[in-house]
Amino acid sequence: MPTPTIGVFDSGFGGLTVLRALIDRIPQAQFAFLGDTARLPYGSKSRRTIARYAAESARFLVNEQGAEFLLIACNTASALALDAIQDAVSVPVLGVIEPGAQAASAASQTKDVLVIATDATVQSHAYTAACRSQGLRALEKACPLLVPLVEEAWIDASTVIAASAAEAAPVPPRAAVTAEVIRIYLAELTSEAAARGFNPDVLVLGCTHYPLLRPLFEAAVPAGMRIIDSAQAAADAAVQSINGRLASAAAGSSARPTELRCFATDSVEKFERLGSRFLGQPVGKVQLVDLGG
Ligand code: DGL
Repeated sequence: MPTPTIGVFDSGFGGLTVLRALIDRIPQAQFAFLGDTARLPYGSKSRRTIARYAAESARFLVNEQGAEFLLIACNTASALALDAIQDAVSVPVLGVIEPGAQAASAASQTKDVLVIATDATVQSHAYTAACRSQGLRALEKACPLLVPLVEEAWIDASTVIAASAAEAAPVPPRAAVTAEVIRIYLAELTSEAAARGFNPDVLVLGCTHYPLLRPLFEAAVPAGMRIIDSAQAAADAAVQSINGRLASAAAGSSARPTELRCFATDSVEKFERLGSRFLGQPVGKVQLVDLGG
């Protein structure tokens, strides 16, 4: 029985962290990944524009690539456009916000959590709402400098592949700039939390680009604070939601290799160069698609 195709969508490369987590869990499946790189960043745009872009991207994955399940590997699109995506396609659609909030709830003792995300995600307060429904208080902060730093790979690439080696590795100059940006954002957020009487013990990475910076976050958070990666949480939730046909087909042949098709709306060469690093394995030939303006 052929395995259904799982569509994974992000505005850029960041969603490859979600795809990577998904491939780890169901390596025998077929995946189609779309990075809407021509229209990145979504995080500084209006709800209306994000909804249009996300719906067009979802239709491409379902109508042209045959995706039978969609994972929205973008917090911004999940926060502002999940309804629009669900209206645009007829397959099951999962976003990253609910799984992120559920993982935060499982990890937090104090029930106060910090969330960092794009401007649009923070302004939507989707995390505040999702966390509230889990019995958590959330304090959110927009960190708009971080997505460009990830897209430009101002990170320590070796720490992306082997996060556990991060402490031993020297931080290269570009990553040091990013580390300082993170330090400032977290200092502002933790002082606001103290001023408002929060006692947070969890930091949610509410943007799928941020897991690429995880070693730098690990070094910057207060002692004892746990970091929740919405990519891992979403991949876990996706595996649960994906229908029985996929589960049984994926479990069937352990010899079946992962089938992956990657698409981008711009910068195919850059995607091929950087994407493999983010995915932890070759992305292969990336195909350029035109979804309009
Ligand atoms: N990956 C997107 C997210 O998770 C952010 C990138 C963007 O601003 O387009 O929110």
